[in-house]
Amino acid sequence: MNWMARWAGPYPVFVDRAAGARLWDVDGHAYADFCLGDTGAMFGHAPAPVVGAIRRQLRRGITTMLPSEDSVWVGSELARRFGLPYWQLSMTATDANRFALRIAREVTARPKVLVFNGCYHGTVDEALAELDGGIVGPNPGSIGPPVDLRLTTKVIEFNDVPALERALAPRDVAAVLAEPAMTNQGIILPDPGYHAALREITRRTGTLLILDETHTICEGPGGYTRAHRLEPDMITLGKPLASGVPVAAFGMSAATAELSLPKARADTGDESGIGGTLSGNPLAAAATRATLERVITPAAFRHMIPLARRWTTGVDGAIRQLGLPWHVTRLGARAEYRFRPTPPRNGGEALGARDLELDRYFHLYALNRELLLTPFHNMALMAPSTRARDVDHHTRVFRECAQELVG
Ligand SMILES: Cc1ncc(COP(=O)(O)O)c(C=O)c1O
Repeated sequence: MNWMARWAGPYPVFVDRAAGARLWDVDGHAYADFCLGDTGAMFGHAPAPVVGAIRRQLRRGITTMLPSEDSVWVGSELARRFGLPYWQLSMTATDANRFALRIAREVTARPKVLVFNGCYHGTVDEALAELDGGIVGPNPGSIGPPVDLRLTTKVIEFNDVPALERALAPRDVAAVLAEPAMTNQGIILPDPGYHAALREITRRTGTLLILDETHTICEGPGGYTRAHRLEPDMITLGKPLASGVPVAAFGMSAATAELSLPKARADTGDESGIGGTLSGNPLAAAATRATLERVITPAAFRHMIPLARRWTTGVDGAIRQLGLPWHVTRLGARAEYRFRPTPPRNGGEALGARDLELDRYFHLYALNRELLLTPFHNMALMAPSTRARDVDHHTRVFRECAQELVG
């Protein structure tokens, strides 16, 4: 796969095994893993309660196309955490986003989607879009874009309230699909007041607001939504939801469900365009339940977030000591450094500051010192089993690497 082949260095590291926040390669090197499967394993590799639940469920059936009791528990728990009453399971976050968009089109009877420049929501056709000199087009390198993206998608910069007003005014957008804080071009935090404006404008124009919490679950057990008391119409999440077993979920408000469920339940003998044969299977539900009950807990965040602070303090100290025009940002248990003096306010600024060669240099330097960072940008995730000494090792390696560069 593309993402495996494109790691820094002439060939990727081949994995022997991974446990907690450590990963061993086939040559016997033991890495402190700050990549954690790019969030899929952000609460640790192979957590014991989940391995136990999977073992138990394997003997009781893997997939049945019928709900299990665990799925009821999972639905109730997601409702409690995120504040939306109705939930459905899917296999991947990409799926969850595709299904959420279909529901949004059904509910609003509008064709288009609005995303933010520099976003990534999985391989969702409508969201693989970028601004190119102010015009919407496919992401560079995107293989086989389906149709002219101007027909399906509006793209604006994050944190730009007037652009949002203009884009939603024609009332042809079914939904804004957004990460509550952007994470895929480095961390981009919302300006103070931006979420209030986003919610007010989407409500006023009858546009649904879908928040993709797949990465921003790093902010707390109920994601960024709960931590900042946001009120989206729908939420999508995936990746770590079942500790890396392919499970994702999308939730919706009562009003959204009321408008979309009758059609989903209509006895047309047809598929609704939502779900898949393996979605919500008993193995997936058991793994999700164990993860929510025992792994993605408030106690885990009490360990992870202070470690992310330690990581940013260390990197910030090195940047200042060497007088480099760089900065480091944090979002809950996720931290990231970038090669520009101030945090970007939107995807355009972040993309403009990209330096792929410098990224590779840092990644390879770290890899050779048994540290894994998330590739393609410089992001680190803290797991419940990450140790302070792993963080301090990273700080030393970062300082040495930067020093060799400027020296
Ligand atoms: C915010 C966000 N949403 C959705 C996805 C898609 O996840 P998946 O590849 O598991 O479908 C990603 C993947 O990186 C993501 O970053």
